Amino acid sequence: MKENKFNPLSVYKEDLFKGKTVLITGGGSGIGKHLTEAFLKLGADVIISSRDEEKLIQTQKAFKEELGKEISYFTCDISKPEEVRGMVNASFALKGKIDILINNAGANTLRPTENLTPVRWKAIIDTVLSGTYYVTREVAKKWIKAKFAGNIINIASTTGWTGSPYMAPSGAAKAGIINLGKTLGSEWGKYGIRINDVSPGPVFTKGSFQRLWLNEEIIDSIKSKVPLGKFPGPEDVVGPVLFLASPAAEMITGSTITVDGGEALKVMFDDLVDKFRPRKGGAGDID
Ligand SMILES: NC(=O)c1ccc[n+]([C@@H]2O[C@H](COP(=O)([O-])OP(=O)(O)OC[C@H]3O[C@@H](n4cnc5c(N)ncnc54)[C@H](OP(=O)(O)O)[C@@H]3O)[C@@H](O)[C@H]2O)c1
Repeated sequence: MKENKFNPLSVYKEDLFKGKTVLITGGGSGIGKHLTEAFLKLGADVIISSRDEEKLIQTQKAFKEELGKEISYFTCDISKPEEVRGMVNASFALKGKIDILINNAGANTLRPTENLTPVRWKAIIDTVLSGTYYVTREVAKKWIKAKFAGNIINIASTTGWTGSPYMAPSGAAKAGIINLGKTLGSEWGKYGIRINDVSPGPVFTKGSFQRLWLNEEIIDSIKSKVPLGKFPGPEDVVGPVLFLASPAAEMITGSTITVDGGEALKVMFDDLVDKFRPRKGGAGDID
């Protein structure tokens, strides 16, 4: 199948997010870095945050050189509530407001669950689920106090409802994030705060390649399970996030947009029909 080289930014106005401040956790790598670039190109002020200061500095430098745009950063481990409070306070102090929060930071591990220690389980739950909650709460407290209709987008995952072998803590945490989005969509609607998630299936990033997809054989096998025939890249996540961040999604809250090329759908029966009841003339044999 021919891969889609469409530029998701081309359907959005150049200054769509002018005057808006966007806080992106994990904004220095992978999907988060693509989101940082997209919001910058559409006029937003962007603050990124994660643990590794060197990576944040490199990202800041790269966007200065490539786009001539300044981003701000704060180091923060989102699994530590006091660091989160400091980062959120500093972000509001720097820009005066945050309009859009993207909870993108996450962690994963590929391990048989019987070999997963409680320490490892807790580390991932603390980052993915509790960390998302800590950042969300700190930001939303300020919005509610200021009567500000903010917008939250969580990067969840299809593993949140399909589960995935060897990814027990991350799948459970993503299920928690999706559920949290529905609870808060209902609870905070009265403040005008929206919260939605974009749930990717497997996405090819440097981080996921090093931790999860490991070699070409695994990559080909994943690709063969995607009905749309492509291994999604970070750029595929960008368009749906921009849509949810935009006024076009003003009536959407507590929802999930799945970005997986159909990977989480059941293709089993399709395979079986192709194998045991092939059409006489192949795909062209249509009445
Ligand atoms: N790639 C996929 O296949 C896939 C599929 C579905 C969902 N997702 C989700 O997409 C998001 C981005 O993943 P990615 O694939 O782009 O991987 P990535 O490049 O490794 O991004 C993860 C980011 O999270 C940050 N992070 C990790 N632990 C943190 C902590 N305790 N505190 C603060 N920041 C932390 C990392 O920065 P530091 O190391 O500097 O802290 C990094 O920037 C994650 O939520 C992931 O679960 C990815």
